[in-house]
Amino acid sequence: MCGIVGYVGERQACPVIIKGLHRLEYRGYDSAGVAIVHPDGVIDIHKCKGKVSGLEAFLAGKDSSGTIGIGHTRWATHGEPNDINAHPHFSRSGEIALIHNGIIENFRVLRDALRTNGFTFRSSTDSEVLVNLIEYVRESGKCSLEEAVRVALKQVVGAYAIAIVEKGNTSRIIAARKSSPMAIGIGDGEYFLSSDAASIIDYTQDFVYLKDNEVAVIEKGKPLHIMNLDGKDSKVAVQKLKMSISQLEKGGFDHFMLKEIYEQPETLEDCVRGRVIPDSKEIVLSGVLNNKEKFLKARRIIFVACGTSWHASLIGEHLIENMCRIPVEVEYASEFRYRNPILYPDDIVIAVSQSGETADTLAAVDLARKAGAFIYGICNVVGSSIPRATDSGTYIHVGPEIGVASTKAFTGQVTVMTMLALLVGRLRGTIEEGYYHRVAQAILELPATIREALNTAEPVSALARTFTYAHNFIYLGRGYNYPTALEGALKLKEISYIHAEGLPAAEMKHGPIALIDSEMPTVAIATLDKTYEKTLSNIEEIKARGGKIIAIVSKGDDLVRRSADYCIEVPSTVECLMPLVSVIPLQLLAYYIATYKGRNVDQPRNLAKSVTVE
Ligand code: M6R
Repeated sequence: MCGIVGYVGERQACPVIIKGLHRLEYRGYDSAGVAIVHPDGVIDIHKCKGKVSGLEAFLAGKDSSGTIGIGHTRWATHGEPNDINAHPHFSRSGEIALIHNGIIENFRVLRDALRTNGFTFRSSTDSEVLVNLIEYVRESGKCSLEEAVRVALKQVVGAYAIAIVEKGNTSRIIAARKSSPMAIGIGDGEYFLSSDAASIIDYTQDFVYLKDNEVAVIEKGKPLHIMNLDGKDSKVAVQKLKMSISQLEKGGFDHFMLKEIYEQPETLEDCVRGRVIPDSKEIVLSGVLNNKEKFLKARRIIFVACGTSWHASLIGEHLIENMCRIPVEVEYASEFRYRNPILYPDDIVIAVSQSGETADTLAAVDLARKAGAFIYGICNVVGSSIPRATDSGTYIHVGPEIGVASTKAFTGQVTVMTMLALLVGRLRGTIEEGYYHRVAQAILELPATIREALNTAEPVSALARTFTYAHNFIYLGRGYNYPTALEGALKLKEISYIHAEGLPAAEMKHGPIALIDSEMPTVAIATLDKTYEKTLSNIEEIKARGGKIIAIVSKGDDLVRRSADYCIEVPSTVECLMPLVSVIPLQLLAYYIATYKGRNVDQPRNLAKSVTVE
């Protein structure tokens, strides 16, 4: 979704901003722009539809000199993607330039009110309304820009992260946030600004994360000044972001998605390190151990999540119900937040999110908090909004995930959920000791198991060529692997644009089997587990109707071969960890089909990495 970068200091601002915008490209966007305040105080805005590289070409030969500026990548919400709707936006007088992430929900009312005061608008955006509202407040109240920002934001309903520069001021940026992230990077006599701290780690590792309803005055050579909307000073808390630049680069792979698929042995090692003690098999999750009573007394666990994180949560449901005997519900955050759900004080709400910024999940967390539930986060991006809004939690620690299609976050989430279920099950006495040790040992062996599963890349790539023609796919699984089927289908549709549907295998005969013919390939997860025989029967039923079957099978299993057209062998592990193994060929299948179709796998059309609007 939209991205923000800003700079004020001694360097030329434009190259810093462009580099930061490139780092934000993976989030998905449709236009880009910059506002630079030249040394004489004049602001120039350059913006255009399309990629950041297009903006760079557009800037060539133009005067972009200046040591202060703001830049933006836009993902359209109000008004089509075009040059006019791209950010930054000038106020009516051209004295203020603003970039904005988020949505101003009451922008129509505000726009109408401004129109009655003589304002006109060039774009269809809510953001242009906001910059003019600020100008109107400043003019009518004869106040400073900082005060006008605070007063204007009090009238705004919705979500925002904004950055503003002003004509004639070559040393100050004003920024503010509500429900949309904003980090201020602290350099030596200079400041950086970004909606994602990772985009500016080339320059600094020291960050201040703005909180909701805070306004920052960021002035070259002066201490950072943060206040709330009433002008009351807030504490400036600097945090270190430990991340290397190589973590953000492709490392020799053609795409971030492929790099992230291949990284999984290492990311799972990082995820498990220090959390499963190799000798004793003790599980150390401080987020759980520090809140033991909550987990011991939990009446119910409710997962709230979206997309891939929701699929991981479905596996979490199996894990927790099996190991902890606590009833579990898994909710789409977007549905939960608007449903007036019944919550009890002894409920635990687990919010699962790679980015930690998904608007619906964040809103579900807010709702759960108001209802008095204990909230636990399972997130990847350290310091993001969801972990900061939860009572406790566990980071999955799989490193930055850049490809829009989530891969290593899914396996990290399921691994954390498995550790959590094992630990809570042991604390509650609902797990048999031998089983606990077997699963803990299998978690320690995960990096090796996933490494072996990655050997499926070659046969999967060959298979992908055969199926590039398909217009539809069905993915089937049962038990722990039903969510894996959903995840495989999501991966394929989001990056290849082929329609795909994930189903519990036994549901086929209740309707979807009518779709089966020779043009409808089915990917069936048929690894050796307690529903293996049943899945085999489901495969037979599809075969009997002329369907083509690609089966994911356990290494050495010959039985499925008799019915399936193609078999991909994966290594075995304990049943509850099999989704981590069977998802690997499904990630690869989606990747290869999408690349053979010439798709932009890292930035698929219409999608954004971090869905910060609802
Ligand atoms: O950052 P989150 O985990 O909260 O994101 C949730 C979904 O937007 C995300 O998983 C999305 O479905 C991915 N594109 C899936 O690959």
